[in-house]
Amino acid sequence: MLRSIDTAAAPARALPTSYTAHADLRHGLLQPQARISPKYLYDARGCELFEQITRLPEYYPTRTEAAILADAGPAMAQALRGHEVLIELGAGNCEKVRVLLRRLRPRHFVGVDIAGDFLRQAVRRLAEEFPGLDARAVQADITEPVRLPRDLPLAGRLLFYPGSSIGNFDPADALAMLKRMHGLLGPHGGLLIGIDLPKPLHWLEPAYDDAQGITARFNLNVLRHVNRLIGSDFDEDDWAHLAFFNEDHSRIEMHLRARRALTVTWPGGTRRFAAGQTIHTENSYKYALPRFQNMLTEAGFTPGEVWTDPQHWFAMVHAHA
Ligand SMILES: C[S@@+](CC[C@H](N)C(=O)[O-])C[C@H]1O[C@@H](n2cnc3c(N)ncnc32)[C@H](O)[C@@H]1O
Repeated sequence: MLRSIDTAAAPARALPTSYTAHADLRHGLLQPQARISPKYLYDARGCELFEQITRLPEYYPTRTEAAILADAGPAMAQALRGHEVLIELGAGNCEKVRVLLRRLRPRHFVGVDIAGDFLRQAVRRLAEEFPGLDARAVQADITEPVRLPRDLPLAGRLLFYPGSSIGNFDPADALAMLKRMHGLLGPHGGLLIGIDLPKPLHWLEPAYDDAQGITARFNLNVLRHVNRLIGSDFDEDDWAHLAFFNEDHSRIEMHLRARRALTVTWPGGTRRFAAGQTIHTENSYKYALPRFQNMLTEAGFTPGEVWTDPQHWFAMVHAHA
């Protein structure tokens, strides 16, 4: 079911209902390598913790991407001119889109996110800040087909997908996602997407395992969310945060590691964990630019301008639909 402050939005089965969340989580927990999809990291507390992460000294992605958006402003505005409809996927607090709204002055903005309350508050703030902007929130799970408001113009749409969130998907799923994004666009459609580039380990790993332990709290918080969703009895104290770079897959992996042998139960299910066994909670792929541009082409886009920071840590890639 899709919920939105936009009453004209078409109904869709985009949001995990408690039934699908239950089936999805139970399936993941019972795999030999147990896993919980990263989309469950973002309940209300998870969204707040993620905001704290973006301000950490170790977490380079947010400030690097924000600096690119600020520094490349005029060139970006020139390349992206004429888009009347700006759609942000995984919009969260809608912070980064402000600079685009100021420069491009589109008529319509749609923020899409799985965390509905957090998103609606952010979109309300945007609507106050940009009088005259038609600003709407669509709560949806973007791993499913997303239904945008029916009356949203098709021509001139620009999809904005920052934060290297595309890196949370395995390459095959990322490609499928890019194809679905392409399907949301019509004439004069475009995509502006942020990707995190490969870089030395001593910068990468601390970004996902900070000294203050905020990322650990963010990761552990998923267990409380899962308990609420499926009635399980995870105890945060039994688990430890683990983050490391997997060279073979060019990705950061986040896991939760059992501190002792234990059994987790939920209505209709149970899973035993040996001490040290993990639940895989997130991947964050680091793509070399040519590889990502090939994926864009395979998804039907024509890659265009690339803006990056002086250290080449992060890239914002423009692509035409
Ligand atoms: C890493 S944060 C990025 C937030 C913001 N775009 C930024 O760049 O700072 C990921 C955002 O995507 C949302 N999200 C995660 N999985 C999602 C899904 N499957 N469908 C829709 N939104 C999702 C989260 O709620 C969160 O707001």
